[in-house]
Amino acid sequence: MPPAPIVLGIETSCDDTACAVLDGEARVLASVVSSQLSAHRPYGGVVPEIASRAHLENWPAVSAEALLRAGLDLSRIDAVAATRGPGLVGSLLVGLSLGKSLAFALDRPFFAVHHLEGHLYSPFLRSDGAADEVPERFVGLVVSGGHSNLFSVTPNRTETLGEARDDAMGEVFDKVGKRLGLPYPQGPRVDELAEAGDANAHRFAIPDCGGSLDVSFSGLKSQALGAIEKLERSLGPIDLEVPDRDGGSPPREILDLLAGFRAAAVGQVLDRVERLHQEDPISLLAVSGGAAANRLLRRELTVWAIERNVALRLVPLVFSGDNAAMIAHAALLRLRRGESDNPFTAEAESRIAM
Ligand code: KG4
Ligand code: ZN
Repeated sequence: MPPAPIVLGIETSCDDTACAVLDGEARVLASVVSSQLSAHRPYGGVVPEIASRAHLENWPAVSAEALLRAGLDLSRIDAVAATRGPGLVGSLLVGLSLGKSLAFALDRPFFAVHHLEGHLYSPFLRSDGAADEVPERFVGLVVSGGHSNLFSVTPNRTETLGEARDDAMGEVFDKVGKRLGLPYPQGPRVDELAEAGDANAHRFAIPDCGGSLDVSFSGLKSQALGAIEKLERSLGPIDLEVPDRDGGSPPREILDLLAGFRAAAVGQVLDRVERLHQEDPISLLAVSGGAAANRLLRRELTVWAIERNVALRLVPLVFSGDNAAMIAHAALLRLRRGESDNPFTAEAESRIAM
């Protein structure tokens, strides 16, 4: 029998309906993520109303699958955790209400978890059924569709060292990809196309943000959109979905543009990590969030960490995007620290600080 406490996690902050079960050693017994991509695809982005309804529809099958894979029934659950924000408020409400009801019916503690708290510790989750301890001190880099944050984690405090001043990293990948006709989420596809381009053939500037640890991607987005417009004047309208269907490859100029765009986005993140390291040497860097799946970011950080002799934890790819294992994990860490659970009055909030 898996060791207690068994935690059931729920994540419904955006367009993924997710349920996971972790044991007391933080081993992931099951992590089920049901994507709503096909429901939102015709609209080119996530439609909040459709997302909330889809969460309600998906939940019975997703939770049943998670319990089945974990080989446990509900009576074995010792605590329930759900994301309370930030995210789409209608979607959050679904998961939070399901979590509270479940905890109430089972008479178990309930934890309302900040989405970023889930991502922050997720590099210490393992995809092979084993478990790792979360160190007391580390620097966390969270890059997703809504955030690009640098955190300092110490035993009694999590401090935000830097954040996005405008668009988040994943968000600009999505917007640039959307302009090229790619379906949502465009980030992974832009990354893939950039692999085939030459970043030196199309260079973009990296803003300094006044020497701070903040990042700003909206200037890069404007530069990239402007460059696409200019390309269209010579190549004609670009719609990457069309040549893809025929199996053709996009023009070289576009691949180079995307490679240059990606290099500048990743370059800015690297620049802030290096800036922090110069100010206050990092001993362990833990990288998470949907955009932590970016191939160039993973390669460059790996090289950087080796050169600087910094320990690096890159979130396993299965836990980089939104999932419920990270939510159950954050709750388990709180239980271990002896923190009290949250009342059933905990509210869903679309914007909340960590
Ligand atoms: O963490 P996540 O699943 O949801 C949020 O909390 O936002 O992150 C999703 C974001 C999307 O913007 C998606 O395009 C981006 O992560 N993303 C990527 C890559 N894979 C996912 N961005 C750049 N390169 C990737 N390989
Ligand atoms: Zn996320």
